[in-house]
Amino acid sequence: MRVLVTPDYRTLSEEAAALVARAVRAKPDITLGLPTGSTPLGMYEELIRKHRHEGLDFSRVRTFNLDEYLGLAPDDPQSYHAYMHARFFDHVNIAVDNTRIPDGSPGVDANAKCGRYEDAIRNAGGIDLLIVGIGSNGHIAFNEPGSSFESRTRVVTLAPETIENAKRHFPGDADIPMSAITIGIRTILDARRILLLASGSGKAEAVERTLRDPVSESVPASALRLHPDVIAILDESARRR
Ligand code: GLP
Repeated sequence: MRVLVTPDYRTLSEEAAALVARAVRAKPDITLGLPTGSTPLGMYEELIRKHRHEGLDFSRVRTFNLDEYLGLAPDDPQSYHAYMHARFFDHVNIAVDNTRIPDGSPGVDANAKCGRYEDAIRNAGGIDLLIVGIGSNGHIAFNEPGSSFESRTRVVTLAPETIENAKRHFPGDADIPMSAITIGIRTILDARRILLLASGSGKAEAVERTLRDPVSESVPASALRLHPDVIAILDESARRR
C-alpha cells in the first residue's frame, strides 16, 4: 500500500479529487466505487468544482455506492441515497441511470437484492477505482471486524461503535438503523484500484492497525494490504496515534 500523508483535510480532499479526476479523464466511461460519511465530503466538493471550472465530464461515468442503511427509503434525508444526491450527483453531469446504490427501503427483500448488486457490478465490467473511508474500529464500507475477506454484498448488523458514531448524523429523535447492506471485502478487493481516505485523530488508531498489525479479519481495512494497487491518503492527524 502506498501512503501519502497530507498536512490537512483540505489537501487530502484536493489530492483525492485530483487522483479521481485523472482516472476519469484517462477513462471517461470509468466505473467508480463511491463512499459516504464525512471524510469524502471535501473530495466531492472539489470534484464538483473541477466539473464546473475545468470541464471534468461525468456523462459516461458509472458508479456503485459501497453501502446503505437498511430500513431507510431513498428519500429519507439520512439515507446514503439522499447524501449522494445532495453532496455530489445533483451537482455534476452524471446520468442518474448510471448510478447505483444498494436499496435499503423498508419492505424490500434486501437479501435477494444483494446478489443482483454483485451481478450489476460484474455486468458493468467491474469497478475500476474504488474510494473507501475507514471506521474508527477499522471497518471498510460496513464490513465490521470479523467480516470474512471472502464476503460479498450482504445484509450486516452494525457494530455498537458504528451506531454510536452514526448518532451525530441523525436528528435526536430519529431511529438509527441497526443493520445495513454493504458490498463485501472480496467485492472491494476485486476493484482494480483502491483509494483509502482517513482524516482526523479519531482514525489514527485504526490507520495504525491497518498499516502495521498482522493482516486479519479483526481489522477489516488490513485486507487492503492484500491488494496490489492501493493508495492511502491520510492527513497528519490520522497518521499519528
Ligand atoms: C460509515 C460508512 C463508511 C465510512 C465510515 C466512516 O460507517 N458506512 O463507509 O467509511 O462511516 O465515516 P466518516 O468518514 O464519517 O468518519
